[in-house]
Amino acid sequence: MSEKITLSVIKADVGGYVGHSSVHPKLLEKARELLSESELLEDFYVTHVGDDINLILTHRNGIDNKEIHQLAWDVFKGCTEVAKELKLYGAGQDLLQDAFSGNIKGLGPGVAEMEFVERKSEPVIIFMADKTEPGAWNFPLYKMFADPFNTIGLVIDPKMHDGFKFEVHDVINNKKVFFSLPEDLYDLLIFIGAPGHYCIKSVYSKKTGEIASVSSTQRLNLMAGRYVGKDDPVCIVRCQSGLPAVGEALEPFANPHLVSGWMRGSHSGPLMPVSVKDSNPTRFDGPPRVVALGFQIAKGKLIGPQDFFADVSFDKAREMANEIANYLRKLGPFEPHRLHLDEMEYTTLPLVMEKFKDKFEEIK
Ligand code: F6R
Ligand code: MG
Ligand code: MG
Repeated sequence: MSEKITLSVIKADVGGYVGHSSVHPKLLEKARELLSESELLEDFYVTHVGDDINLILTHRNGIDNKEIHQLAWDVFKGCTEVAKELKLYGAGQDLLQDAFSGNIKGLGPGVAEMEFVERKSEPVIIFMADKTEPGAWNFPLYKMFADPFNTIGLVIDPKMHDGFKFEVHDVINNKKVFFSLPEDLYDLLIFIGAPGHYCIKSVYSKKTGEIASVSSTQRLNLMAGRYVGKDDPVCIVRCQSGLPAVGEALEPFANPHLVSGWMRGSHSGPLMPVSVKDSNPTRFDGPPRVVALGFQIAKGKLIGPQDFFADVSFDKAREMANEIANYLRKLGPFEPHRLHLDEMEYTTLPLVMEKFKDKFEEIK
């Protein structure tokens, strides 16, 4: 048995209840039933944020493992059957192919996985968002791992003082680049300030070389070549003992930042931190939500979760998000509430623009 444990978070929207707002309990039941039949796993936890099912899995098979990905695929297929039976909205929408072909990544579902040797104590947080895209993690990951105004550990903890290494993906051109913080701070910001194009994939401790964070960076619309909703990303953060404290990892969400997504994947809106119970986007199919579940991993078992954003100390953030949402909604179809044109390319807007193609005349 491998000394290392793999933590895999795999998610998909395989049918909304009602519309695009939530997951029907029968789908979650089905996912639990199918996972409990598997002998591949050390442990699992099934949850949802909005209309996305999130499978949190521990196992010894490493990342990108065919059997594990096949298992998740089969679970989503099984849930799709239930969704079809109940005629749930968009049943099977994130499963872009009929059959599994080795790695679930290019097939629609979002994946974040990391492999590590369990520390003496292993606290992790699984962040899961609905009605937004992978770049939504850029701002909070930057705050957690690079901003001393957020993470005091960067200043006063000798185990953190060397800083962190960031792996950034160009999700449009499928390329990656590394930055070493704090030296490359200004360079990193050139790129991650454009979250629709550049996404933080992973973060590593410079002191130990250990992986600290990984996120899903699949862009569903780019894969499908058409509008299929936003990607609704997930992100794993390991905490404590030379990594951000749990409270330092949660702190960036106290100040809701603007993310792309919301109604029809076409709007800018505040990312509202909520409990799982409050994670069903309603107003204008939003505003975008983020949930944070904390687990202690003990010999491969998931001890938890703690539903962190249920805490009253995030009430103010929710209030602020509602204020921002109110303000933005008044702009209606105008930018910057509506996304800029280049980001609207993979929405349904080009279809309606098409009819004006031949009506434009030269300005003499
Ligand atoms: C956003 C999202 C929803 C839908 C909207 C329209 O990611 O999924 O906001 O885009 O409810 O859905 P359709 O076109 O299916 O009626
Ligand atoms: Mg949906
Ligand atoms: Mg969703």
